[in-house]
Amino acid sequence: MTINIQKQISIAASQSIVVLTDNFDKLKEVQFSDDELYFIKKSIENKEKFIVINQYKRIVFIQILPDDKDENEKREKIRRAAAKLKSYLNRNKICDIQIVETDNKTQYQIDYAEALALSHYQFLKYFENKNDKLNSLKNIFLVNNKISDEEIKQLSALIEAVYKARTLVNEPVSFMDAEQMVKEAEALSKDCGFKLEVLEKKQIESLKMGGLLAVNKGSAKPPRFMIMSWEPENAKNEQPIVLVGKGIVMDTGGYSLKPTADSMDYMKSDMGGAAAVIGTMAAVSKAGLPVKLIGLVPMTDNAIGPDAYMPGDVITMHNGKTVEVLNTDAEGRLILADALSYAQKYNPELVFDLATLTGAAVMAVGTLATVAMGTANEDIFRRLEISAFSTFERIVQMPFWDDYKEMLKSNIADLKNIGGRMAGSITAGKFLEHFTDYPWVHLDIAGPAYMKKDTDYLTTGGTGVGVRLLFDFFKNY
Ligand code: BES
Ligand code: MN
Ligand code: ZN
Repeated sequence: MTINIQKQISIAASQSIVVLTDNFDKLKEVQFSDDELYFIKKSIENKEKFIVINQYKRIVFIQILPDDKDENEKREKIRRAAAKLKSYLNRNKICDIQIVETDNKTQYQIDYAEALALSHYQFLKYFENKNDKLNSLKNIFLVNNKISDEEIKQLSALIEAVYKARTLVNEPVSFMDAEQMVKEAEALSKDCGFKLEVLEKKQIESLKMGGLLAVNKGSAKPPRFMIMSWEPENAKNEQPIVLVGKGIVMDTGGYSLKPTADSMDYMKSDMGGAAAVIGTMAAVSKAGLPVKLIGLVPMTDNAIGPDAYMPGDVITMHNGKTVEVLNTDAEGRLILADALSYAQKYNPELVFDLATLTGAAVMAVGTLATVAMGTANEDIFRRLEISAFSTFERIVQMPFWDDYKEMLKSNIADLKNIGGRMAGSITAGKFLEHFTDYPWVHLDIAGPAYMKKDTDYLTTGGTGVGVRLLFDFFKNY
């Protein structure tokens, strides 16, 4: 259930309202009594940032805008303030809210609406008493005649896609296996307009995707490989941009088994990269952005079974390179490598991969940022960084020196799949580089893909990280 976002020309007197403002004198148009104005003035003098006026037929929330010099920090503070509104809305059973910005600053209104909507995401499927838990808010009205229908359409498409990406992650593997992922993508392709082709095990075998097949050997279920495409006539790029997403629907580690407690319990989220790619394809196509995209998603679980691959195995990948598997828990890079070498056939202008790839990335930056690296030029990384700070899906770029390749040398094969204890996120990236021959950005989202508690507008569980980042990047492409 998503939230409906609409534009509205003027303030409706009977509906609750959030007023974003930086100055008391700008509040005139909202209709306050003299007593209310006195109270608001006093509150602002007392440095209150959030003021609630209950007018009985409606509630007016006044949010004083932060005065950060840094525009990105300011916008993020506005988003975080929006997330705090949820408890007030629920307590008062408010289902419609208007948002006004007293200078008609569209960007702040959109930021506030975006975070308000994102903070309202819920995953209630498995509760018996879902209806008691349901948030009250249904409609957001942006009061601003300057906002274009295009902006509303893009915002709605984005919110819906992030919701979807979160749900894909939140569903446990007992439901969200590779086959179910395909069904979800099929429904989205019909709804949003991108094309979908699905390779089944036979085709994956004939393509000799040895990485995906090796990881799948321990599974009770066959693998899938999804190919999504969005090719609008007005595309700005001639050669496509390819997005590759890690689709491990559950990572037990295989025979290099993860210890339980913390490290395995949330590994249903190991398809967070796949969710981000599917979500981005959905958002971009639904919003009709003029950019040619291909989405590739290899999918399997990484489990133990009678025929599971074992430490020491040597496998042959889609591009013919051999890999000595010294740890079956380094499985993500094996399925991604096949997808990355498959991507070569599109002669892409640029390739992104998104993957919950390494614990080392989490150790380096926690849940606050995505670890980025690759062979794309500095201009691409700079533009990506602009999107990263503007959406606050922040990235940190790692060094990507060839010296790191030394750590992946095997005694009996072209490569081994682990690089040792040090620089774990970089050696994982260096492994992948062997399967690329185009400008490429690797995004290790292991940290920010999953939250163990509500964090501002990120809800517990899957965050949908990557969708807002890439959508912004493609909007400005
Ligand atoms: N899916 C994990 C990485 C991960 C860890 C994601 C924590 C999210 C949170 C990945 O498949 C993995 O197990 N990586 C290993 C690689 C190692 C064996 C070289 C890791 O990081 O420990
Ligand atoms: Mn693993
Ligand atoms: Zn994994």
